[in-house]
Order: sequence, then structure tokens, then C-alpha cells
Amino acid sequence: MGALLQIENLSVSYRRGGATIQAVDAVDLEVPAATMLGLVGESGCGKSTLARAIMGVLPGNARIAGGRVELAGEELVPSTEARRRERLWREISFVPQTAMNALDPVYRLRDQMREVLCSRGGLSAAASDARTAELFRAVGLDPSRLMDFPHQFSGGMRQRAAIALALALNPKLIIADEPVTALDVIVQRQVLDTIRMLGRDLGLSAIVVTHDISVVAYLCTLTAVMYGGRIVESGTTAELVGSPAHPYTMGLMNASPDLKARIDTLVPIEGAPPDLSAPPPGCRFAARCPFVLPACRELSPDIIEISTGHKVACHRAGEAPALRELAGKVATWSA
Ligand SMILES: Nc1ncnc2c1ncn2[C@@H]1O[C@H](COP(=O)(O)OP(=O)(O)O)[C@@H](O)[C@H]1O
Ligand code: SF4
Ligand SMILES: [Mg+2]
Repeated sequence: MGALLQIENLSVSYRRGGATIQAVDAVDLEVPAATMLGLVGESGCGKSTLARAIMGVLPGNARIAGGRVELAGEELVPSTEARRRERLWREISFVPQTAMNALDPVYRLRDQMREVLCSRGGLSAAASDARTAELFRAVGLDPSRLMDFPHQFSGGMRQRAAIALALALNPKLIIADEPVTALDVIVQRQVLDTIRMLGRDLGLSAIVVTHDISVVAYLCTLTAVMYGGRIVESGTTAELVGSPAHPYTMGLMNASPDLKARIDTLVPIEGAPPDLSAPPPGCRFAARCPFVLPACRELSPDIIEISTGHKVACHRAGEAPALRELAGKVATWSA
């Protein structure tokens, strides 16, 4: 059997002014059943665009320029709007960065849950309320708060409610876009613990989109690193954190306060991701890469599998152990 979610050669572009922005460029990615995959990269790398393309909720100026997505063996992208709506909530659901984008401020939580559970799930009001209480408990909310409005909840509680809503109809897969970014650090940890527990107890599959590689290291068994609209490295989280093979992944880890074990200080990657309306012809990381060779600026690296399941798009992937050694030195990044 194939993976639960299979993304093949997916490209998404935006029109803005006279320009075409190639936000997602020929992405291949698989999420097996009962697996959490972290999609990580800096702001502007195309993560949200990829998440929205899978969900079928791209803005009007976006276009799927090619490729396909399959969920549980059935084509999800492209698909008819009617079929997409049928599958939304039941098979796949979304947790946005800001819970207020999922919750309606003028309705009580109970009624928002009924909207999904009764209208889409066919439950009676009483059955919906019972299921809501169960979901509230699962995400660490007190069921006695069912009659509250979203504004009566703290930020962390609202994010838990958005997760409960996403879980309402037992979807096979949830996509969470920066689920804890808007929360303060202590609450972040609580919400991450909740997501981790749901993965373990419900066998939930998820794509967790984040700019913070330590969130992925905490939650996800698989990781895909996105840069300049492309997946540049993917594999098990243990492998990527233990033996990163793409210089960008190495740099991300040096810049993460929780994972800086291989270097004794935080080292940011200088510069910014490429302008996706005019991406460079070769490797998109070339302008910031401490290991760049002349060929990197001309030839775009293919993705190769360097060990089972560990894929990298870098001309120097074969030298990864030596580059890792150098990447652990501050001077490498400040040169
Ligand atoms: N609605 C939009 N219209 C035009 N360009 C967009 C739109 N949304 C995002 N982009 C551009 O697409 C690229 C990828 O953005 P995004 O998917 O939001 O990245 P990320 O989630 O990794 O921060 C960026 O260059 C961004 O400016
Ligand atoms: S292909 Fe070249 S520029 Fe790109 S990450 Fe590898 S070494 Fe750096
Ligand atoms: Mg985003």
C-alpha cells in the first residue's frame, strides 16, 4: 500500500503585479499512516503555500502549475470542489497558525463544534455535545467550558479548541500551520505535548509546518526541510538532526536555541531566502552557503538518496561528514 498522503511533482505559483512567484517548485513528499512529518524552513520558503495547496484553500491569485496529491489512494489535488468539501474534516483538516482563523468569535464553542459534528458528521445535538466533551478532554480543555465564547479562552486554550475542532470527525490527517508560533513559550510546550500525545494515542498523522526545527525534533518522526520553494532534505528526524547532509539544515540547527548541541553558540544564517519571482538558476541556497562551489550557481542539484529514506539536494552531499564538521564552527558561517 502507498503512503497515506502522496505529493508528486507539485508546483504552485502566484501572480502579483506583473510577476509570477514560484512558491512551490516540483515538490515530492510522502506521509505514511500514523506518522507526524515536520515541514521546516524559514519564512517565505513556501511551507504555507504547500499546506494550502494540499487543503485546496489557496487564494485567488494562486495556481497549481503542475503535479498531484493523493490521499488514501484517491486523488485530492486536482479534485472537484464538491468532492474536496466532502473530504474536508472527515479525511483531512487544518489547524491554522492563529486559532481565531478557525474559530468564530460570535458563536459559543459548543455551537461551533455542532456546526461540524451535526451538519457534516450527521450527529444529533446531544451526541455532538458528548463528542465535544470527549474531544475537549483529549486536548486538555475542561468540558465545563463548552458554553464559552472564544474570547473567554486564553491563546493556548483557543489553539487547543482549534485542534479539537480539527479532530472532530476523526480525520486521517491534519495539517497544522505554525500551530504554536503565536503562543508564549510555556503554553507552546503544553500545546506541543497535547499534539504529541494525540499522535501516540490516536495514531494521528500530521504535517506540522514550522520555522522552528526544535518543534519538529520534539514532535515528528519524519522531517522535510524546505528552502526556496523546494524540499532540500528529507528523512527521519533522528537522521536529519543527528547527521544533517544539506548545509541549510546544518545552518538551521546552529540557529536553534534548543538544538545547538553541535556548536557552542547560536549562529544565524546570514542573508535571506531567494526572491521566488526570479529564483537563481543553480542551487537556491548558493548565495548563503558557506560551501558553495562555482558549479552550484549554475546547476540545480538533483535530489539523491544518500541512505535509506534520507534524501538530499546538494552537489556536495557526498562530503556531508566533512561539511558537518565545518558547519559546527562559528567561523564557517561568519566568513
Ligand atoms: N497571496 C499571495 N500572493 C502572492 N505571493 C504570495 C502569497 N502568499 C505567499 N506568497 C509568496 O510565496 C512565497 C512563499 O510564501 P509562503 O508559502 O507563505 O511561505 P512560508 O509559509 O514558508 O513562510 C513567498 O515569496 C511569499 O511572498
Ligand atoms: S549545492 Fe552547493 S550551494 Fe547548494 S547547498 Fe550544496 S554546497 Fe551549498
Ligand atoms: Mg507560513
